[in-house]
Order: sequence, then C-alpha cells, then structure tokens
Amino acid sequence: MKSNRVAVLSKWTKTKVLLQNKSIKPFIPDTRKFNMNNLRTMIHQYKMVYVKPECGTHGKGVIRAEMIDEYSYKYQINENILKFKTFSEFHKSLVKQIKKRRYLIQKGIHLLKQNHRRFDIRVMVQVNPKGRWETTGIIGRLGHARKIVTNYHSEGKPMSIESLLHNHLSRSQQTQLHKKLSSLGIQIASHLSKTYPKFRQIGVDIGLDKTITPQIIEVNTQPDPYIFNQLKDKSMYRRVMSCRRATVKK
Ligand SMILES: Nc1ncnc2c1ncn2[C@@H]1O[C@H](COP(=O)(O)OP(=O)(O)O)[C@@H](O)[C@H]1O
Ligand SMILES: [Mg+2]
Repeated sequence: MKSNRVAVLSKWTKTKVLLQNKSIKPFIPDTRKFNMNNLRTMIHQYKMVYVKPECGTHGKGVIRAEMIDEYSYKYQINENILKFKTFSEFHKSLVKQIKKRRYLIQKGIHLLKQNHRRFDIRVMVQVNPKGRWETTGIIGRLGHARKIVTNYHSEGKPMSIESLLHNHLSRSQQTQLHKKLSSLGIQIASHLSKTYPKFRQIGVDIGLDKTITPQIIEVNTQPDPYIFNQLKDKSMYRRVMSCRRATVKK
C-alpha cells in the first residue's frame, strides 16, 4: 500500500517494510518489540542487545544490555551502568526506564572502535536533480568514550570513514565497502519509495563489527545534513546541499 507521508518515525514500521525485500533482509539485525519474552529470548541468544525507543531520535533513551554470565545481567543508559543478579530484576529495572513508551529490542552489533570509542556509519541517499536516487554522502560517527551511542546530538564526532577504517581495512577493502554501502543505500531508498513515493532523502545508520558485514541499525527519514559540514573537506557537504536545494525547488 502506498502512503503520502514524507517522514516515518516508527523504527518498527520502517523495519517491517524493509524486511519485505529479500536482498535487504540479510542486512537487518533481528528486531522485535520490547516485552519480557522477547527480552529473555534475545539476551540469551545474542548476549548483547540494544533496547531503544520505537520512535526515538538523537540516541535518547537508547540502552545497551548485556548478559554477563548465566545469572547476571547489566545495562547502560547514558553514562550509567547497572548490574543485576537475576533476569527478573534486570527486566523490572528496564521496564522502569521504559515507562509507558514503546520500545524495541535489536540484536547488538559489537561496533568497531577507535581509541576505545565505538563508531558507526551514516549513509545519505537523496533524489538528485535528475530524479534518481543517489548516495551523496558517507560519513563515520565516533561515539563519546563513556557513551553507547554515536549520535552527533549525544556528543558523537562526525569523521571521514577513511580516518576510522584505516586501522581495520586495507585501501582496496575500503573501496569495496564504500561501493557496497553506496549501493545498499540506493537499494533501501528505492525499496522504501515504493511504499513512500514522497520520500526525497534518507539517512541510513550502518553498524560494522569485525566481520565488516554492514548491519542496518535504522533508517532516518529526516536526516541531518549538517553533520557533513563538520568535515574539513566540504565536497560531500556541497553535494548533499545541492540535492536538498534541487528537492526544495520542485
Ligand atoms: N543494534 C545495535 N547495535 C549496536 N549499536 C546500536 C544498535 N542500535 C543502536 N545502536 C547505537 O545507538 C545509536 C542510536 O540508535 P538508533 O537506532 O540510530 O536511534 P536514534 O534514532 O536515537 O538515532 C546508533 O547510532 C548506534 O551507535
Ligand atoms: Mg540513528
């Protein structure tokens, strides 16, 4: 079914639409609604999960939860770490954090690090002046040392992906990854625009662990273009902004 929406806030809705596409599906980490059963199953299966607001932004309210051993659990929200001796205490405390809000649980990705800080990647995809989807920017975001999110609004630092990946990948592997992310971004945008033909830009958050398989953390329908202005090299920023102007003129 088509929708006239220009933005979608629910990460659950967007995930369900993306899962319809067989070639995108392998890049989506297991994501389920927050409830006790799903929490128990997922934390035992994956050992580390992210528990996050269905409609959150800026990394607010995002929780990183871990099973330490058979009997103990911990989670981190903002800079606070809490530990528990039983699953039921762990669950009860999470429910207290969540209150009445809708939350999701997602398989945790052990994000690559630089100087003990986690980083992920934002892929900006926009409709270009020719009316085609184009990947206009790919940027890394290095999280704050004591935080579990990488968002700019949670003190993450936008950086070129070369500066973050050079310790993990060779030049030619970086080029390969760049191509892969660029085409995955276009695939995601094209697929979403079948349901949401009014979309003109998306920002895909991609997580990488040591296997370097891209994992789609979330898709933003109102991506912040200004993180690209944080780099010394302004060429990507100019490209992003020229697509925005083209969109506004239409
Ligand atoms: N499944 C996950 N594995 C690892 N890190 C994650 C996961 N989900 C979220 N994060 C981290 O938290 C940040 C914020 O989560 P995200 O789902 O993008 O919500 P928001 O809308 O608040 O940006 C991500 O950029 C990433 O750094
Ligand atoms: Mg995000």
